[in-house]
Amino acid sequence: MTQGNRIVVILGSIREGRINDRIAAWTVGQLKAHGFAPEIVDPADPELLPVQTGDKQAVQRLKQRMGDADGFVIVTPEYNHAAPGPLKTLIDAVNAEWRARPVGLVSYGGISGGLRATESLRIVLAELHSVTLRDTVSFASPWRRFDEAGRITDPEAAEAAEAAMAVFAHRLRWWADALADARAARAYDPEDS
Ligand SMILES: Cc1cc2nc3c(=O)[nH]c(=O)nc-3n(C[C@H](O)[C@H](O)[C@H](O)COP(=O)(O)O)c2cc1C
Repeated sequence: MTQGNRIVVILGSIREGRINDRIAAWTVGQLKAHGFAPEIVDPADPELLPVQTGDKQAVQRLKQRMGDADGFVIVTPEYNHAAPGPLKTLIDAVNAEWRARPVGLVSYGGISGGLRATESLRIVLAELHSVTLRDTVSFASPWRRFDEAGRITDPEAAEAAEAAMAVFAHRLRWWADALADARAARAYDPEDS
């Protein structure tokens, strides 16, 4: 069986002063603890920011960073009951990279924990032939929960989040390995077989 370890973690916010970095740092730490090799793709990275206006070189860089991933984890806030526009633009900028790959969704926001952003992304990602994990990790009002380094300060909240992440990581492992095997066995696109 193939081990699908290479996971690309995509940040959802490009807002100055975003809390996204803290939640992404926690997510990366958790994925490492569960045996994955996570790499971050940040839409606010100056090398990737021009993806927002369709710059061809930036899109090429994005393709390189996403290429050959065994799966993705998107860490997104909720803006007006959906995922932020810059995240949607980044998702739309590439196509083949998403195909036959699992995508896990970590969200945050107000009382809803960003779950409406999560659900809005499932529709988009299905169109791109990826498989979203049924199980999610979400944080309601994370503003006081995370320190600067991305640690959850309250031990009970940390334990609950780690329990949710354990299920999430199990599902991600299952789909990443299963789809790595499936891609190796036969082409996903009929024209490639
Ligand atoms: C324009 C805008 C719209 C927002 N809409 C929602 C919303 O619909 N639901 C929600 O839970 N939080 C909403 N929020 C709160 C954000 O989820 C919160 O500010 C979060 O910290 C944003 O992530 P960031 O700091 O990483 O950019 C909104 C924030 C902004 C700036």
